[in-house]
Amino acid sequence: MSDATPFLLEQYFSEFQGDCEINIGSSGCAELSVSELLTIAGSTPNDLGGVVFRDADPSGELAMRALIAEQYVGASHDDILATHGSSEALYLAMACLLHPGDRVVVQSPCYQSLSELPRMFGAVVDECPMWNGLGFQFPVETICKRIKAGAKMVIINSPHNPTGATLQRDELEDIANCADLHGTWLVLDDAFVDIVFDGAELGIRRLLTPRCLRIGTLSKSFGLTGLRVGWCVGPHNVLKKMLCRKHYVTINACPLVERLAILALQSRDTILDRHRAQVREGLAALTSWIEGQLEWTPPKGGVCCYPRLPVGVSSRALCIALAKRHRVFAVPGSVFGDDGHIRIGFGGGSQDVARGIEALSTELQHAVATRGM
Ligand SMILES: Cc1ncc(COP(=O)(O)O)c(C=O)c1O
Repeated sequence: MSDATPFLLEQYFSEFQGDCEINIGSSGCAELSVSELLTIAGSTPNDLGGVVFRDADPSGELAMRALIAEQYVGASHDDILATHGSSEALYLAMACLLHPGDRVVVQSPCYQSLSELPRMFGAVVDECPMWNGLGFQFPVETICKRIKAGAKMVIINSPHNPTGATLQRDELEDIANCADLHGTWLVLDDAFVDIVFDGAELGIRRLLTPRCLRIGTLSKSFGLTGLRVGWCVGPHNVLKKMLCRKHYVTINACPLVERLAILALQSRDTILDRHRAQVREGLAALTSWIEGQLEWTPPKGGVCCYPRLPVGVSSRALCIALAKRHRVFAVPGSVFGDDGHIRIGFGGGSQDVARGIEALSTELQHAVATRGM
């Protein structure tokens, strides 16, 4: 296993997010407080008083896994391994399935774990560009070509971070059929699967092939990033291997965390309705500003988009100016390897977006006026 490459996105978050008041950089929905969650769930702080800090089930509390399984066609609690965020699930999956020299197909740009974890375990990564010359879109044909060329694993994150591109059902089926035919592992990073927009279809919630893993999280559409609850749905032999590694890392989750996760999963529809409404409002506010300002591919799902900045404007300098002068947090494309784009999140709703874009307009004008000086 090689040394870890610095995780540029997470480093940028640690450096700048803490001092900001307005967040238009996140890839999540507005985060819930404990009281908000308890109120939504019809519970009270007293209900948590009986939770005992025991050594919990390393696979995840059975009731929690049963609720997670309800989201997938034909799944039961046995098909789920709960993890510390989906990050742990991704890590364990790569650790168990990849060997030096394996080829892995991912999208470019992508959430850095999806390309770096395979490299960490010695795999050779085939990055398939999402940019097709006109906009961001999944390069389905290229992905299938790489699978046919002998890839051990294909990783798909749809809706996609950071571009918001989203696969249509038949496109996902084409990739799954191709992966199945060639014995390729299909890893679906479902972080944003609950949020799609008009014209896009909700993903098919089942294991699409015998060699399929679905990685989920409460961090995004549930607005529970800090709870650190994720999971993997997959074949039992793989979950068993992942659990074996998990015993050496996090072992199990905190029972209080699992209790809160159960409340959230029981209130899934209420929480998702609320967040979907906020996301739609945020996107509407962003759309009315961005058109005529920046070149972009309107997102079809998820909570972020990835507009292009005017030539000569550095995303990193722009985002640092936003953070330092306006306490507005946005994510520079430089952390995805491209300083000419900026990631804008609209999951916080229309008010955050309105305040964020006001500052962004000011800084953009300044950056355009002073570029090259
Ligand atoms: C595509 C994608 N996958 C996985 C994660 C990890 O999320 P978590 O570990 O909070 O579940 C993120 C976080 O931003 C993400 O964007």
